[in-house]
Amino acid sequence: MVNKFAYGTFPSTRQRRNRMTDWSRRMVAETRLTSHDLILPVFVIDGKNERTPIPSMPGVERQSVDILVETAKHAEKLGIPALALFPYIDASLKTKDAREAYNPDNVVCRAVKAIKDACPNLGVITDVALDPFNADGQDGIVVDGQILNDETTEALVRQALVQAQAGCDVVAPSDMMDGRIGAIRKVLEESSLKNVQIMAYSAKYASAFYGPFRDAIGSASALGKADKKTYQLDPANSDEAMREVAYDLDEGADSVIVKPGLPYLDVLYRVKQEFGVPVFAYQVSGEYAMMRAAGQNGWLDYIGCAIETLSCFKRAGASGVLTYSAIEVAEALEG
Ligand code: PBG
Repeated sequence: MVNKFAYGTFPSTRQRRNRMTDWSRRMVAETRLTSHDLILPVFVIDGKNERTPIPSMPGVERQSVDILVETAKHAEKLGIPALALFPYIDASLKTKDAREAYNPDNVVCRAVKAIKDACPNLGVITDVALDPFNADGQDGIVVDGQILNDETTEALVRQALVQAQAGCDVVAPSDMMDGRIGAIRKVLEESSLKNVQIMAYSAKYASAFYGPFRDAIGSASALGKADKKTYQLDPANSDEAMREVAYDLDEGADSVIVKPGLPYLDVLYRVKQEFGVPVFAYQVSGEYAMMRAAGQNGWLDYIGCAIETLSCFKRAGASGVLTYSAIEVAEALEG
């Protein structure tokens, strides 16, 4: 390979010259992180004036719809383009068929309506997956220990439809069933909801970094020791992720997600290079918890690490990042 950097010799070339001052570093910066790159995941619970902390995610709380509306207004003011909604569902509403997922009056649909009423110009993304509603804690319907693909997809289509009818802007299937993007796209088209975007979790890995999220939505105890390896991707693979992206785009996805974030920057980079479509990284709960816990112990500078890692997603090609640090980082960037 030709060494394309073999020009100039010291001292005529001094690489540090461009880095000497703040104005120069800003002038030569190849990417720039702004609040417009940040998508805020939020946890919604039933009730009024209710906030419950999540012990494994210090600084993050579940919020009832009225509080969430205030959070949404704040996020919008900071320039954050969208929220991603995840529900905490009371155990009494969890069933083996996860039917609460497609109840048009469930807490997700009520939150969508309230947020869109208060902030019509803020994007609202809803999660399409059964795990918060499922007595088994899995993203799919379980029969005899098997996660049923096609039956799950039928439920996901109904779930996406009630969310879209409630007024969400983007449905984001995070379940990794085969064929669900095409099925959801079809029903949206047929229901005069054709402008609802699909942000597909295409490259979603079976990761140990999701632990705190499962505490947050209350699926951890239902799931027990079971894993999600029959549908989520093997961390060993990236060709397989490219196939998932290709199918999802072909079936009608408008953008794709790579998840988790930092350990999968190579996958993100490949998606951007090979497909050139909007690709989002999800800096997941475990990544947040690591930075936050180390910050609380005085071992790391939490906000410094957050800004650095988020900038790295941009450098790798992300259009944006779903991150629990979105509000704090947006505030820090404002100065
Ligand atoms: C599942 C889902 C998961 C996350 C979002 N939706 C993970 C899982 O349990 O498989 C993880 C997000 C995070 O860890 O922050 N539908």
